[in-house]
Amino acid sequence: MKILVTGCGGFIGSHVSEYLLNRGDVVIGIDNLNDYYDINLKIKNINLLNNFNNFKFYKENVLNSHVISQTKPDKICHLASMAGVRYSIKNPCIYVRENIEAFIYLLEEAIKNNVKHIVYASSSSVYGLNTKIPFNEEDIIEKCNSPYACSKKSMEIFAKTYYQLHNISNIGLRFFTVYGPRGRPDMAPYKFLNAIINNKEFDKYGDGNTFRDYTYIDDIVSGVISSIDNINNLQCEIINLGNSKKITLNEFISSCEKVTKKKAKFNKCENQMGDVPGTCADISKAIKLLNYKPKIDLLKGLEITYDYINNIKEDEFCQLGDCSKPECHNCFPIKNCTKHDICIKEGFCDPIN
Ligand SMILES: NC(=O)c1ccc[n+]([C@@H]2O[C@H](COP(=O)([O-])OP(=O)(O)OC[C@H]3O[C@@H](n4cnc5c(N)ncnc54)[C@H](O)[C@@H]3O)[C@@H](O)[C@H]2O)c1
Repeated sequence: MKILVTGCGGFIGSHVSEYLLNRGDVVIGIDNLNDYYDINLKIKNINLLNNFNNFKFYKENVLNSHVISQTKPDKICHLASMAGVRYSIKNPCIYVRENIEAFIYLLEEAIKNNVKHIVYASSSSVYGLNTKIPFNEEDIIEKCNSPYACSKKSMEIFAKTYYQLHNISNIGLRFFTVYGPRGRPDMAPYKFLNAIINNKEFDKYGDGNTFRDYTYIDDIVSGVISSIDNINNLQCEIINLGNSKKITLNEFISSCEKVTKKKAKFNKCENQMGDVPGTCADISKAIKLLNYKPKIDLLKGLEITYDYINNIKEDEFCQLGDCSKPECHNCFPIKNCTKHDICIKEGFCDPIN
């Protein structure tokens, strides 16, 4: 199977791509490597995927990419998006362009090129200020609380409309707070563990009674892969992928302390605009339709994430333009450019000669 994975340089995209590559699928990866967070983390993910012969990377924006018509994938897994609830409140229009417009463009390209099936990332954020817990896919969605959430809800509406108009099968997955190795540095699991490891303070918002449903990356990957394989031939569905456990912020911080065997230091801050009081997934639909079964509990998942963060070598990356190879003037691969050839081939650096 040839599968296009958008956002392959990001957290979830790199894990999904790695899984598909390991089982022998051909993966066409697209990522524009935006600078929402440290781009070097994304480069590192791409370098890892480049070790597979069945991987081909395109550094492009989904919004104006011709990769679908060039490569004719069988299926698409669309994970590229501007993430970040708080950032979206300050920069709402970016979310209309990068999330909604890019998705419509992708749907159009998919139809023109006879793509069989699309899986795309939605989010638990769409439930917004809903208070009925756990969140069920049938719940009424009318309290989105950020431009990010609105963009994800819009993507769901477009997916359904395109199914009605063009019969293109699709599954939208509402992910619940995903964490694990290579996790996003703007999210609490990485931020808190990293701060505790380095004896630094992190910001704690509110009184600690807000709650989240933390889902380990391997469990999310299993749900994404089932959705791509689609053995039940689902045509147009929205499905929650969570762990179905309500963990308060206070419990989460205690778990981080347990795993690191250190006391957390934090600044107490007011709740932030856009934050929601709680999330927790009803996963009965995923269990039934995708044979989904989350396996990693929070403590186990945090232990693995802690080991990963603890083993990151700070000097592993060089910065843009900091490459030791003289022929390279715009390079940001791993230090000493062991991947220099790949770097040039993939367009990360432009050789002067
Ligand atoms: N991580 C979570 O807890 C979580 C929760 C709910 C939903 N999601 C959704 O899952 C998906 C993956 O999230 P993630 O945590 O891996 O985020 P991420 O930011 O690590 O990955 C997204 C990647 O997409 C790329 N990208 C963004 N817009 C693009 C565009 N228009 N064209 C090409 N590339 C683009 C970015 O450079 C990035 O590498 C996103 O759609 C996100 O909204 C994530």
